[in-house]
Amino acid sequence: ENKPTTRMVEAHELLKKFYHHLLVNTKEGQQAYDYLIERGFSRETIDEFEIGFSLDSWEFMTKFLTKRGFQLTEMEKAGLLVKRAKDGAFFDRFRGRVMFPIADLQGKTVAFSGRLIENIEGQPKYLNSPETAIFNKGKTIYNFHRAKKHIRKNQQVLLFEGFADVISAVKAECPNAIATMGTALTDEQAKIIRRNVESVVICYDSDHAGIEAAYKAANILTSVGCTVKVAVMPQGYDPDDYIKEQGPERFRNEVIDGSLTFMSFKMRYLRRGKNLQNEAERMKYIEDVLKEISQLTKAVEQEHYLRQLSQEFSISLDALQQQKNQISSLSG
Ligand code: UTP
Ligand code: MN
Ligand code: MN
Ligand code: MN
Ligand code: MN
Repeated sequence: ENKPTTRMVEAHELLKKFYHHLLVNTKEGQQAYDYLIERGFSRETIDEFEIGFSLDSWEFMTKFLTKRGFQLTEMEKAGLLVKRAKDGAFFDRFRGRVMFPIADLQGKTVAFSGRLIENIEGQPKYLNSPETAIFNKGKTIYNFHRAKKHIRKNQQVLLFEGFADVISAVKAECPNAIATMGTALTDEQAKIIRRNVESVVICYDSDHAGIEAAYKAANILTSVGCTVKVAVMPQGYDPDDYIKEQGPERFRNEVIDGSLTFMSFKMRYLRRGKNLQNEAERMKYIEDVLKEISQLTKAVEQEHYLRQLSQEFSISLDALQQQKNQISSLSG
């Protein structure tokens, strides 16, 4: 007799294969397949990431699982089915969506994320499996099991916000690409990353939410001992858009290779919304940057950014040093 968690994984593995079959071989899956090709995903990519399609049905999964001897109550606990409150009947959680299988660190399929093909008012673009006995969002990292060997070989990991970005990056010859589960990076995920690599390039969307999230993720990664860089793209782009519009070479050579040190990113972040022509705002900016510089542990790095400030604002290095020392003695 198998353990419940073993059966839950088994159901996910079976469904993953069937969803993939529906996407690539059936007329029900044609619209979803065309959508993916239209987006620039090749057949090869669809196969590599085992992308699938869930039928627009309330009872497909229920029947599929029953036929194969799975208990519906257990499959509800696995997040695959939803129990209707009024009569206790089970129905499919994922209906009419492009299905991205999500694996745990070992590569076992433990969850799905389903994307709508066309926006539907009031429905989330991506619907994710809930937390279950086999799926802990905060400890799961998308594509980690495939990326691991490349991360170690390249001694660098590229961290993205979305599944589509990871898939595009891999296609753009960046196989060391991973993402969180549409939620903020957790300490656990950061520690898993650190166990495998020191250098992390954060490559989040270039919009307000993405920049805020990158700042938070960079702090968490730094606190577990990673060296962090932040890739920046023109406003409004996400990595997937960028690769499609500007091409894989520019993505690798300009966005990834041109990524900023965390300190340079902070300096950019701190000047957002400030008018540096205004004296008071300029002084505030310089003070904010000095505060950050005083936190840097390497003297050489401190000196480097102090010089940068000194040049940009024509303030003597001495004065900046003095004020920085004041700040660090105040903050203990
Ligand atoms: P984005 O809105 O940036 O989506 O959300 P995306 O990755 O660019 O997706 P496409 O290109 O429109 O297909 C980033 C991540 O946030 C999570 C998903 O994990 C997504 O990849 N998310 C987003 C959700 O979980 N639910 C949503 O409704 C939207
Ligand atoms: Mn295939
Ligand atoms: Mn986004
Ligand atoms: Mn995005
Ligand atoms: Mn996108």
